[in-house]
Amino acid sequence: MTISVAMVGAGRMGAKHVAALAAMDDVHIVGVADVRPEAATALADETGGEAFADYREMLERLKPDVAYFCTPPADHGEQLVFAAGLGINMFVEKPLASSMVDANAIVDAVERAGVLFTVGYQWRYNPTADVARETLGDLSATLLAGWWYWTIPPIPWIADRRYGGGQVFEQATHQIDLMRFLGGDIQEVYAVYAQNARPESELPNWDANAVTMRFASGAAGSLHTTYALFPGIPNGNAVDIIARELLIRAQSARCTVFRRDQEPVETKGPEGWTIDQPYMEAVRRNDPNLIRSPARDSAKSIAVSLAANYSAVTGKIVDVGAFMANPPTDVAIMPTG
Ligand SMILES: NC(=O)c1ccc[n+]([C@@H]2O[C@H](COP(=O)([O-])OP(=O)(O)OC[C@H]3O[C@@H](n4cnc5c(N)ncnc54)[C@H](O)[C@@H]3O)[C@@H](O)[C@H]2O)c1
Repeated sequence: MTISVAMVGAGRMGAKHVAALAAMDDVHIVGVADVRPEAATALADETGGEAFADYREMLERLKPDVAYFCTPPADHGEQLVFAAGLGINMFVEKPLASSMVDANAIVDAVERAGVLFTVGYQWRYNPTADVARETLGDLSATLLAGWWYWTIPPIPWIADRRYGGGQVFEQATHQIDLMRFLGGDIQEVYAVYAQNARPESELPNWDANAVTMRFASGAAGSLHTTYALFPGIPNGNAVDIIARELLIRAQSARCTVFRRDQEPVETKGPEGWTIDQPYMEAVRRNDPNLIRSPARDSAKSIAVSLAANYSAVTGKIVDVGAFMANPPTDVAIMPTG
């Protein structure tokens, strides 16, 4: 059986996923859509697929087995609900959506359609996350602490808080999602963001973000991130999971375990591994049990980021459950697209 895939969004991540999918013998890229027709044509030409300016026309005409969405999150609501209506399986790049209203509409639509749907949270899918989970076992984490030290994002809309939503929403969503995977749900969030290193003219965004979290398990959570630095800082991002006499340091494709009086034990993710592999395996087997980031769970990860943005803007401590049930509209905190 050949799996037909249509790509929506021919930018940086669209090209990356196409390269990974094209390397699979049983996958055929049948179409590429982008509002920039030249980008769609260039990527489609690499794969033998057809180029489209309108993703709806592509999905209706080609009826692919799978659609990938590598577009800005503010577009996801409309796009994913449309594809769910056609019964198409979907992979969407993180974050799921730019608002809880859109996220809830997506959850409803994909669950009703019963399609195989995943968000591209590759930290959670990487086999190193299994090592972290198995190492933690039945122990309760008492602290989950993450950091991401970076520079100005290379994609201009991502660098701009109005479209990218800030680093906690756009980038550190991977870490919040991994913290939830290993530590369970997050109940409460308090955040302080700053812009003291780069002027608005250089970076229209917060350049420092500090988030404090309370997990339902009772664990404390902490995340600090910055766009004030430069690329290439050694160990520039990680999540530390701390339990009694145990430190698990999880990075996107590496997990290091530290125990008293023992050498650290490092596990690296498989060479050449991409998240496309487990997702396409779920499609091949038509097995929803292989999906690690369904819409409903991923909505909880963006809720934490959006609640952090809300806390940073208002100075309030935010109850995440209440935020999800009744998303506040009094201040602008979300990327608008
Ligand atoms: N998983 C990861 O580690 C990772 C890393 C980087 C980016 N991302 C995510 O991937 C997504 C895409 O980011 P990117 O870096 O590829 O951005 P990008 O700007 O390079 O690509 C986005 C593409 O979408 C196209 N587009 C916009 N609206 C569209 C529409 N309505 N229909 C069709 N095409 C449309 C744009 O023209 C552009 O080509 C973002 O949500 C980002 O957060 C994920």
